[in-house]
Amino acid sequence: MSDQTVLLEVRDLSAGYGGGPVVAGISFTLERGEILSLVGESGCGKSTLLRAIMGTEPDLCLLSGSIRLEGTELAALPPRERLRFVARRCGMVFQSPGASFNPIRSYRSQFIETLKSRGKYDKKDFLPRAEAALLRLGLKEPRRVLDSCPYELSGGMNQRVALALALLLGQELLLADEPTSALDAAIQLQAAAELKSLGETAGIAQIVVTHNLALARYLGGRIGVMYAGRLVELAPAGDLLEEPRHPYTQALLEAIPRLDGTMPRPLAGQLPGEGPALPGCPFFPRCSRAIPACRETPCTLAPWKGEHLLACCRAGEETP
Ligand SMILES: Nc1ncnc2c1ncn2[C@@H]1O[C@H](COP(=O)(O)OP(=O)(O)OP(=O)(O)O)[C@@H](O)[C@H]1O
Ligand SMILES: [Mg+2]
Repeated sequence: MSDQTVLLEVRDLSAGYGGGPVVAGISFTLERGEILSLVGESGCGKSTLLRAIMGTEPDLCLLSGSIRLEGTELAALPPRERLRFVARRCGMVFQSPGASFNPIRSYRSQFIETLKSRGKYDKKDFLPRAEAALLRLGLKEPRRVLDSCPYELSGGMNQRVALALALLLGQELLLADEPTSALDAAIQLQAAAELKSLGETAGIAQIVVTHNLALARYLGGRIGVMYAGRLVELAPAGDLLEEPRHPYTQALLEAIPRLDGTMPRPLAGQLPGEGPALPGCPFFPRCSRAIPACRETPCTLAPWKGEHLLACCRAGEETP
């Protein structure tokens, strides 16, 4: 992998909100145009990881590790400079799109303001480009949408507007936190197709947080599975879903309701609570394959087979 193709490099990142680390020991690289989907139970730190990269949340502190964006170490930049540097290259679609817009100002004025702040506003082009972006996301009356305020539109429409703005900004990296969760199935497919084409045709790299593994498979690229603030498995989407290796990933896949009527098997137990982390694998208390050594042996993500990475001390063994 040449430095030219690597857009984002995260190394051994730990971050938290003032107490202990909420995400810990996270390492991965993202190439230009590549899509990485992040999955994992609620509360495992997916949104926190995106926020740590974006750096917009004052309460969230980087405790250790490194985030390099286009070769620049973000942790070494003064806060204002870091924000400016990241905002030029990286956009974020939030879990609740209302959070990223003022609910009582028209989208038109908020789009213009955002484009101006990134040096990407051109008065002549604005309207046709904005309308085209909204149409691509299936918003059939783009002019009306532009003149609406977020509170006047449905959650799903707001989510699509947020994606349209990301399209318009054309940044190198898009961090999308459950970007399709408020959409019905048909619109979800359309939005997912747009996300995919952002990578394929516009070369925009993305980290997409989702609870929807079918969406992650459709998007292609790689899937990263998080558990208790750690990345426990990372692999090309097809490999991960066809040959999941981490007992947590296997349990997560078994817990999905199926259309063929097979009963899903709910994941037993709970995420570890606050307090000192176990020295070994955080999944140990819930793992059906755990051996005593798992409790003490630190597990870090390491190659299992080709691009398939795994953090499990039983990785080398055959699955029973
Ligand atoms: N602003 C905050 N201040 C303090 N703790 C927080 C804050 N935001 C999240 N947390 C805590 O950090 C942990 C990880 O939360 P996070 O929102 O990153 O999880 P998530 O994987 O995105 O979950 P979900 O799938 O429900 O969105 C949780 O224990 C949560 O309570
Ligand atoms: Mg979240």
